[in-house]
Amino acid sequence: HGTSTINDKGHLEIGGVDATKLAAEYGTPLYVFDEALVRRRCREFVEAFRESGMKFQVAYASKAFCVKAMCRIVEEEGLSLDVVSDGELYTALEAGFPAGRIHFHGNNKTPQEIEMALDAKIGCFVVDNFVELHMLNALAGEKGVKANVLFRVTPGVEAHTHEYISTGQEDSKFGFDLQNGSAMRALQEAKELSQLVLLGLHSHIGSQIFEVEGFRLAAEKVAQFSARVRTELGLTFPVINLGGGFGIRYTEDHTPLPMGEYIRAITDAVKKQFAQVDYPLPEIWIEPGRSIVGDAGTTLYTVGTMKDIPGVRKYVAVDGGMTDNPRPALYEAKYEAMLANRAREACEETVSIAGKCCESGDMLIWDLDLPRVKVGDILAVSCTGAYNYAMASNYNRIRRPAVVFVQNGQSDLVVRRETFGDLVNNDVIPERLARVQQ
Ligand code: LLP
Repeated sequence: HGTSTINDKGHLEIGGVDATKLAAEYGTPLYVFDEALVRRRCREFVEAFRESGMKFQVAYASKAFCVKAMCRIVEEEGLSLDVVSDGELYTALEAGFPAGRIHFHGNNKTPQEIEMALDAKIGCFVVDNFVELHMLNALAGEKGVKANVLFRVTPGVEAHTHEYISTGQEDSKFGFDLQNGSAMRALQEAKELSQLVLLGLHSHIGSQIFEVEGFRLAAEKVAQFSARVRTELGLTFPVINLGGGFGIRYTEDHTPLPMGEYIRAITDAVKKQFAQVDYPLPEIWIEPGRSIVGDAGTTLYTVGTMKDIPGVRKYVAVDGGMTDNPRPALYEAKYEAMLANRAREACEETVSIAGKCCESGDMLIWDLDLPRVKVGDILAVSCTGAYNYAMASNYNRIRRPAVVFVQNGQSDLVVRRETFGDLVNNDVIPERLARVQQ
């Protein structure tokens, strides 16, 4: 992947830095991001859109991995940023990300979150439901400002992906329904709301998608609905947002298209569908998360204990697990891995990689072929850039790992490893439970 190679010591090298050196310097578990690869992914989307000749915005879905240094890279690459909570918004603002390029998502934005975003003067709200629609208008009115809005619609397209990460079908907690008329009603109501500037429609069909068909279908539904809105309400939208969800290669079972091909399919479909309904070509926005950071991330672990059950299975335990990567436990996600310190050695045994949590489900990889594993080996699990650090927890009071960016033979710490102090920082012992001084 990316700028990873094997150096003459037979060690995995990422961004020109020996992975075993990273493990020694920063400790393990460690999240390592190949910065050049992140930037390349950003550029692939932008270049594909440029070729299409359409007006566009690529908003990085920060839920995949949201830390200040990442926001800096996204800004430098000229992308916009999608946030879904006050915490992501805060992180972006702290990093100095231009507020006008921030889009705010979410199915239950609190009044406080909306106010924070209005005060920051963010670029646009993706309105999800009727409650939010009226709350946003009222709060913008109190502040005497206008808010740009996109309407999130559920296009009724089923993306073929895990049910927990599939969102475009009708029975979903997200968005206004196209089928039952709630989207049209929302727009009718919104037209009368003085503080809202209606930019257009938003549709997100799911995540880790490999087929372009779902995006084509979504473009068709959105174009047809836009045409109806123009006829019935006299509103013409300048923007269409088709969400994220572009699949990446975690293992050889996955065969994603080059990102440019998704974009070509989307821009072609949008051009064709909007031409068919004789509609002025809107700007097209997308929100990739996983496909920007997923394959740029590698997690390094140190091998600890082992348990061999002859004829059954050999467990190899590492110093992390579901706390730094809950995806195998949550989604049965599969990963590939190698020994970073013996990257050229032939595989000799099949082992299963266990985490260190007190929970049988804490398994990272089943049936992985490796050289004969030794205590102290450094295991590198690839493709852990998206939804790993972002979903990490302190289960078992395990400290979250550090994050480093590597590029051009240089490594930079971007998130410090949590300390024991961080773990108890918010704990409070009530007076009545205070320890009596002996
Ligand atoms: N836009 C919206 C409205 C979304 O809900 C999402 C993801 C994205 C964009 C970005 O999707 P991506 O390009 O990253 O596929 N935790 C799960 C993934 C949840 C995705 C949620 N929404 C996982 O680890 O697979």
